Formats: sequence, C-alpha cells, structure tokens
Amino acid sequence: MNKKIVIIGASGHGKVVANIAKLNGYDEILFLDDDTSKKSCGRYPVAGTSKDIRQYKGNYDFIIAIGNNRIREKISDMLERENIKQTTLIHPSAVIDETVKIKEGTVIMANAAVNAEVQIGRSCIINTSSSIDHECILEDYVHVSPGVHVAGTVSIGKSTWIGIGATIINNLSICANCNIRAGAVVVKDVIESGDYQGVPAKKKE
Ligand SMILES: CC(C)(COP(=O)(O)OP(=O)(O)OC[C@H]1O[C@@H](n2cnc3c(N)ncnc32)[C@H](O)[C@@H]1OP(=O)(O)O)[C@@H](O)C(=O)NCCC(=O)NCCS
Repeated sequence: MNKKIVIIGASGHGKVVANIAKLNGYDEILFLDDDTSKKSCGRYPVAGTSKDIRQYKGNYDFIIAIGNNRIREKISDMLERENIKQTTLIHPSAVIDETVKIKEGTVIMANAAVNAEVQIGRSCIINTSSSIDHECILEDYVHVSPGVHVAGTVSIGKSTWIGIGATIINNLSICANCNIRAGAVVVKDVIESGDYQGVPAKKKE
C-alpha cells in the first residue's frame, strides 16, 4: 500500500522535511499552505490550505513543517481538535539512543545525535547536525536549529527557539518562550523569557 503524507507548510524547511519523508518510504507527498499563491514546494504539489485537512484525514499521515514555534503550536492544536495524530519523522542518518522518548509531530534532521534518556515533546524540530546530550528534557514546540549543541541534563521550556550554532552547557534550565540567538553560549539558567545573545549569553533589552 502507498505510504502517503501531508506536510503543512510549503517552505524551505518543508523541502527538507519532504526529503526526510521520502527517505522514510513515503511515495505520495503533498503540501498544504495558507498562502494560496504557492503551487508547489520542491518536487511536490501544494494541494490546498490548512482548511483542507479533513479530506486527507484517515488516508494520509500528517506532519507540520513550520519553523515558527507559535504557528506550529497553533496548527498542532488544530490537528488535535480534528483528532488527527501527527507522525514523527527521523532522518536515517540521525543517531538516536534507544531510550529516547519522542512525542508526536517531532522532526529530527540529518546527522542529529540524541543521547540516552532524552525526552522530546510534541512538534519539536531537532535540526541538522545538532546534538542533544543525555537526559535532556525538551518541552513541546522547541526548535533546536542546525549545529546547536545541548550538553547533558538541560531542560528547555515550551516554545523556546535555539538559534543556529548556539551552545548550552550542562545541567541548565532554560524557561519557556526564549530566543537564544545564533552563536550564543548559555552558561547560566535562563529564568525569564526573552532574547539572549553573545558569549556568555545575556538578555537583550
Ligand atoms: C534572532 C535574530 C534573527 C535577530 O537578528 P536581528 O533582527 O538582526 O537582531 P536585532 O535587530 O534585534 O539586533 C541587531 C543587533 O544585534 C546584533 N546581533 C543580531 N544577532 C546577533 C547574534 N546572534 N549575536 C550577536 N549579536 C547579534 C546585530 O549585529 C545588531 O547589532 P548592532 O545594533 O550593533 O548593529 C538573530 O540574532 C539570529 O539568531 N539569527 C539566527 C537565525 C537562525 O538560527 N536560523 C536558523 C533557522 S533553522
């Protein structure tokens, strides 16, 4: 039987997600996007908008390919209201310890490494070549950008975004709704939501 998937979000990130879907054996891939000017995404068609999800329910798997954590949460809630369970997608080159727990809707990109006893929430993005070390807890809608290193026993709160190449040292807690900007090095707990940048990372007022 054909393996079919609907990807919500026809962007550059969507193209990367489509490739992971293909490598996971999906032979029918289509996109939905609320921007009606989009007709295709990479090699795949944009077949409608998020209002069209019901017509694919039951026959297709679903995944959201939207980098913005708030929008991803909104769409994820919409799928839940429709009783649509999202799939998870893991690139075959990612190295994931067998004890890792991953909730629905999460995508793990090429060459990511996720070590022992990590817990990853709903609709997270673990982007290309990032590493999440032992016993970290990532809450729902976290996005870890390419090349980020998260050391062991770190917790990252809901909807926090970690920008490209940032480093988080071990045994820290970062609260919900933070933007850790590109290249930042987080060396202390982050207890207040906001933007953090630099080495060591400081709140940007
Ligand atoms: C969050 C981000 C987009 C903000 O960029 P921005 O809108 O240009 O930032 P602001 O306008 O608030 O601030 C600009 C100032 O901060 C500096 N700045 C911006 N990002 C910085 C960073 N990551 N580290 C240090 N300084 C930074 C700029 O040089 C500028 O300084 P100036 O005023 O002295 O010229 C950017 O910091 C970032 O992290 N981008 C990474 C994107 C990424 O990870 N993409 C991968 C997605 S998969």
